[in-house]
Amino acid sequence: MKLIQVADYEEMSRSAAELVYTELENIRTLGLATGGTPLGFYEALRERVRQEGRSLQHLHTVNLDEYLGLAADHPQSYHYYMNEVLFQHTDIPSPQTHLPAGDAEDPYAEAARYDELVTRLGVDLQLLGVGANGHIGFNEPGSSFHGRTDVVRLAEGTIRANARFFGEGERVPEQAVTMGIGTILESRRILLLASGARKAEAVRALLHGAMSEEMPVTALQTHPDVTVIADEAALSLSR
Ligand code: PGA
Repeated sequence: MKLIQVADYEEMSRSAAELVYTELENIRTLGLATGGTPLGFYEALRERVRQEGRSLQHLHTVNLDEYLGLAADHPQSYHYYMNEVLFQHTDIPSPQTHLPAGDAEDPYAEAARYDELVTRLGVDLQLLGVGANGHIGFNEPGSSFHGRTDVVRLAEGTIRANARFFGEGERVPEQAVTMGIGTILESRRILLLASGARKAEAVRALLHGAMSEEMPVTALQTHPDVTVIADEAALSLSR
C-alpha cells in the first residue's frame, strides 16, 4: 500500500486530481465515489480538464452506489451529484456514465445487472472514500469481503452522517445498491481519500489494524495496488 501524506483537505483534493489526470490515458473505466470527501477532487479535476481542453470521450465511469428509492433527477441522488460535480462539465458521453438505478422496480435484479456491467467493463482505477465506521461504498461493518453488488441497509451512523446533505425533515434513505467489497477488490488500482479526524480510526485500521469484516476498509490490505491519500487529521491515530 502506498501512502501519500498531505496537510489538509485542499492538498488531498489537488494531489488526487493530479494523480488521476496524469493517469487518464491509461484509464478506460474509472470508478467513482460520492459524499463530502471527493467534492474538492472533482472540482480540481474538472478545472484541470477545462484548462487543458482535455477530451474525456474515451472514458467510461462506474459509480460505487446509489440510494434506493431516489430517481436520477432527485437532488440528493448520486446520479444528480455526479452530473453536478463532473459529468456536465466534461464531454464524457452520457451512455458511458453508469450508476445503479435507485428507482429500479426490482432492486435485486438491478444489483445483479450492475455487477455484471462493472465486471464486463473492468475498473482500471477505483476512487474510494471511507466512512467513520470503516465502510467502503455502502458496505457497512459485517459485510463479506467477497460480496458482490447488492441491496444493503445503511448503518445508523451513516444515515446520521448523510443527513447533512438532506433538507430538514427530509427522509434520508435507509437502503442503497452498492458494489460489493468483492466487486471493488477486482479493480486494477484503488485510490482512497481520507480527510479529517472523523476518519482517523478507519485510516489507522487500514494502515495498521488486523483484517476484519467489522472494519470493511481493511479488505484493501489484500489488494496489490492501493494508494491512500490522507491528511494530517485523518492520520492522527496512525503515527
Ligand atoms: P464522506 O463519506 O466523504 O461524506 O465523509 C465517505 C463515505 O461514507 O464513504
